[in-house]
Amino acid sequence: MPATTRRVSRIKISATKQMPMIAAKVGGCVSLGQGVPSFSPPPHVLAAVCQALTEDPAVHRYSLQPGDSRLRAAIAGQLRRERGLTVDPETEVAVFAGGMEALLCAMLAVVEEGDEVILPSPCYPSHVEQVLLAGGRPVFVPLDPATFALDPADLARAVGPRTKAIIVTSPSNPTGCLLSESALRAVADLALAHDLFIVSDETYDVLVYDDPVPSRLTSLPTLADIRDRLILVFSCSKRYALTGWRVGYAVAPAKLLHDMLKVHDCATICAPAPAQVAALAALTGPQEPFAAFVSELRARRDLTCERLDRLVDFFTYVRPQGAFYVMARYRFSSEPSHDLAVRLIKEAQVITIPGGAFGPGGEGALRLSFGGSREELTEAFDRIERWLKG
Ligand SMILES: Cc1ncc(COP(=O)(O)O)c(C=O)c1O
Repeated sequence: MPATTRRVSRIKISATKQMPMIAAKVGGCVSLGQGVPSFSPPPHVLAAVCQALTEDPAVHRYSLQPGDSRLRAAIAGQLRRERGLTVDPETEVAVFAGGMEALLCAMLAVVEEGDEVILPSPCYPSHVEQVLLAGGRPVFVPLDPATFALDPADLARAVGPRTKAIIVTSPSNPTGCLLSESALRAVADLALAHDLFIVSDETYDVLVYDDPVPSRLTSLPTLADIRDRLILVFSCSKRYALTGWRVGYAVAPAKLLHDMLKVHDCATICAPAPAQVAALAALTGPQEPFAAFVSELRARRDLTCERLDRLVDFFTYVRPQGAFYVMARYRFSSEPSHDLAVRLIKEAQVITIPGGAFGPGGEGALRLSFGGSREELTEAFDRIERWLKG
C-alpha cells in the first residue's frame, strides 16, 4: 500500500471511543464513560422532524451551505435573548455537523503549519488532535491540580512568537469546572496584546448547576474589542440531547466564518437537513423539557458526589459545577490511568475514561461521566465499591 500522510500519523482516536470497544468484548458493563446524556429529545422535536420527513421534500436535500436560514435566524435570536449578543445570521452564524466539525473547520482556517495553540489542561482530547491535524503544536497550560483553576500568569507565560490561538472550554470536559472571570479576562487581554484567535468551545453552555449566570467571554466588558478574533462553537448534542443527529453551530466574524465554510464545503457540504429541523424545533419550541434536563443532571451530579464522598479513602475530586464529568483522582493505586481503566472494565464491569487521555494534569485520575440515569450511576458505583472493598 502507498504511504499514508504524516498528518494522520500525528493523530489518534481518543480513549473515549476505545474504552467502550474494550468493554464490548467483555460484555455486561455499565458506563461512566462516554459523554452522552441519557435523555431522548422531547416529543415536540421528534414531531417536527416526523412532519418534515413526510411533508417537506426539502428535508431530503442539501440545505443552504451555511445552514437553513430559519435556523440561523433562530440561533441569532437565542444569542440575543440569552447573552445580549447581536450577530448577523447571514454572515456571522453557520450550522455544522456537530460542534466537532465547527471546531475542525476553525482549526484548519486559523492554524498555520508550526503555529502554537494554547490549551489549558486537562483538556478535551479532540482539541489536541485537531491542532495536530492542522499542523499546529499544542502548548499545554496546567490547571491548578487542587481546583482546576486557570492561573493568568501561567497562561501569559505560555504565549510565544508562534502562538496563534487559545482554546477555552467552560464548563469543561473533562473537569466539569468553569473558568473564572479573571481567567477569561486574561484570555481576552492576551489575545488582544499578542494578536491571537480565541476559540471558545461552548458545548456545555447552559449545563451549569450552581451559578445560573456563569462568567463568559461574551459577558466581558472587552467583548467588543475581541469580537474580531472570537470563534464561539456551540453544540446541540448535550443541551438538546441530540448527540446522534450531528448538529452544532459557530459564531465568528464574517471573513473568518467564510474561510471556515470553505472547509465545511470540503467536509460535509452542509449539516444534515433533518438534524437542522430538529435543531430548529429545539431552539424555537418549548424550553421546559431542556430545563428539566439541567435539573436532572444537577441531581445526578449530587448523587455522583455523594457516592464519591463515601469513597473518600479511595478518591479525591473537585466538585463539578457544569457539564457532566468529574475527574476522580485515585489514591489506592499508582498504576497508569489507562491500565486502571482497563482493569475496572475487566474486573468490575464499569467503563471509565483514563485521565491520562486528557493531557498533562489528567494522569492519576479517571474521568467519570454522570450523563447516565440515576439507576446506571447507582449500579456503577455499587460495582466500584464492591470491587474496592471486596
Ligand atoms: C468539549 C467538547 N467539545 C466538542 C464536543 C463535540 O460535540 P458535538 O457532538 O457537537 O460534535 C464534545 C463532545 O463530547 C465536547 O465534550
